[in-house]
Amino acid sequence: MIESKTEVKEGVDFFELVNERRSVRIFDPSIAIPEEVMVECLEAAILSPNSSNLQLYNFIRVPSSSSFKDKLADLCMGQKAAKTAQELVVVVARRDLWKSRAKANYDYIKASYAGKPDKKLNQALGYYGNLIPKLYRKFPGWSQIKQLIAWWIGNRRPMVREVSETDVRISVHKSASLASMTFMLALKSCGFDTCPMEGFDSKRVKKLLDLPKEAEICMVIGCGKGTTEGIYGKRFRVPSDQLYKTV
Ligand SMILES: Cc1cc2nc3c(=O)[nH]c(=O)nc-3n(C[C@H](O)[C@H](O)[C@H](O)COP(=O)(O)O)c2cc1C
Repeated sequence: MIESKTEVKEGVDFFELVNERRSVRIFDPSIAIPEEVMVECLEAAILSPNSSNLQLYNFIRVPSSSSFKDKLADLCMGQKAAKTAQELVVVVARRDLWKSRAKANYDYIKASYAGKPDKKLNQALGYYGNLIPKLYRKFPGWSQIKQLIAWWIGNRRPMVREVSETDVRISVHKSASLASMTFMLALKSCGFDTCPMEGFDSKRVKKLLDLPKEAEICMVIGCGKGTTEGIYGKRFRVPSDQLYKTV
């Protein structure tokens, strides 16, 4: 397996990789994903861009050897992509971790700043010490107040409008999704396949994995060596002019 990674590093074309990645619904039960491959792919995933570098997600690995695997596959509505997967990876959006992650960024910036305190440093510290708490803190009515403030400021100058509680949740899921995509491409580059799934009972999955109330499941990714019959038909996309344009 490591060999296939080396091959990639020697030059598997990125576009080929993107083209070859398919959502695979049936995995080969006899081929396990080596531990080092999983770790390297997860390490690649966490390098993905993420909103404000808050890294508000966790990947939870549920390998075939885990007592949770069969129960989790059942909670993925018994989908073959989950049942036959060698490993399931639950991507959890962790909006609730904002305080500790903001502090980690704040402390990192402060500790790594070599020069005398200046405007740039104060701006960076203000971002994590003042702006992020304003956006992420929660109390009744705050979401509406934030929207009102954004509307008020936005009437006078360009302003970020996505400040409501729902917007914050979407932002956290965006970052978790980007990390998921990196993970899936990384696994593909190592010769393995994936199937992202949102067909699961989130309430029961959270209970099974003992996740806090505020955690949200972004997706569950079935992982393994794909089989030919696991690819359900030729890939379909609507015409490109409906999907991208230049203005
Ligand atoms: C957020 C998300 C959720 C998905 N949920 C499921 C799912 O529950 N079950 C499934 O079989 N495929 C699921 N898919 C896979 C899509 O159906 C698949 O990506 C799409 O049909 C395009 O096919 P391709 O990935 O092979 O290019 C999901 C994909 C994404 C991105």
